[in-house]
Amino acid sequence: VTSPGVLRLRARLEALRAARLDRVPLPQERLEGAGVLAGGRRAVQFCSNDVLGLSRHPAVLDAARGALDQGAGATGSRLLSGDLPGHRALEAAASAAFGRPALLWSSGTHANTGLVPALAGRGNLVFSDADVHASLVDGCRLCRGRTVIWPHNDVEALGRLVEEHRARREEEPEGADLLIAESVYSMDGSLAPLERLVEIAEAAGLLLVLDEAHGFGVRGPRGLGLADERGLLDRVPVIMAGLGKAAGAMGALTVATAEILDLLRATARPWIFSTALPPAVTAAATAALEILGGAEGAALRGLLAAKARRLRRGLGLPTEGPEGASHIVPVPVGDEERSVTVAARLLDEHGILCRAVRHPTVPRGASRLRLSVMAQHDPEELDRAAAAIRRLLEET
Ligand SMILES: Cc1ncc(COP(=O)(O)O)c(C=O)c1O
Repeated sequence: VTSPGVLRLRARLEALRAARLDRVPLPQERLEGAGVLAGGRRAVQFCSNDVLGLSRHPAVLDAARGALDQGAGATGSRLLSGDLPGHRALEAAASAAFGRPALLWSSGTHANTGLVPALAGRGNLVFSDADVHASLVDGCRLCRGRTVIWPHNDVEALGRLVEEHRARREEEPEGADLLIAESVYSMDGSLAPLERLVEIAEAAGLLLVLDEAHGFGVRGPRGLGLADERGLLDRVPVIMAGLGKAAGAMGALTVATAEILDLLRATARPWIFSTALPPAVTAAATAALEILGGAEGAALRGLLAAKARRLRRGLGLPTEGPEGASHIVPVPVGDEERSVTVAARLLDEHGILCRAVRHPTVPRGASRLRLSVMAQHDPEELDRAAAAIRRLLEET
């Protein structure tokens, strides 16, 4: 007998399918450069986060292979058996680069869901941009403070909300009030108005938490992110630097004061209770950090920026300013059905792999194609993708 609960779940799934909101992974095999075999079809990859190609850089792979003798896994959380030399070495390398202590997590999701509840408690206010990543949203949901969402990148609205909510606070706060933003927004590539965020946070005594998942490795003279590019590294008290994207590995670093990191070690549940990263991964990430901080990293960033401009120009999108300066390129489509159709036809008819981003990743009716440029893309591939997208949007 099927229980009523299972019947309700079945109905939910059917409703998701009917609204084209179900999710089906596409099996892929990586080929040379930006090439990919996607569902058996040869195509050009436009949805990888490996934007500098470091996940297969020879020095990164050598480092990973060299660490394999230490075991396939870390065997425990950092507080049990998993505090290995590779974890310490990676934190030390990050700390040397940022000039501040760094704490390693097993993923950006662990970091975000762990640090928000650890820093803000009952009675605290957490001001979060409307477009932050799901893991930050979940961190806010897990936190006992009150979350106030401000419209994406709207610093005027943020200023008003901060005044209003601070004046109305009734409870004695347990921890810190937070201001949460991403540096490079994952779904539309827009850049945070970082100078204004820093000023607002400083004036109101908010602890600024900046997710640099898509900024780390890609922006700034040393690849440390948007805060570094804007000369604001010292004024952003908590930075999350993702290692699973431009660094081509996995994990994330929180860069903050030693005190904040001690508090996270003592109270952040995903850090305390989850298995630490495997030695091959920490070795790969450490090698990637070295490349990002050197001349090769700077050259790859230059290449990526030039290619992003080329694709944006081809699509008739801005190439400057907060909406136009990043390697994440959104193509608005609107309707869920249409976005799925355009993405499927791009792959089938043109060998262009990019996925339709739909609710709940973005609001209903705001579906889009999200293209992520890679330093490995050939100029010809970028032009071909832009032309194919423009044509399909006219036809569908
Ligand atoms: C902005 C942002 N933050 C955090 C994460 C989560 O990082 P991870 O994939 O390491 O869990 C992502 C990943 O997509 C992201 O885009």
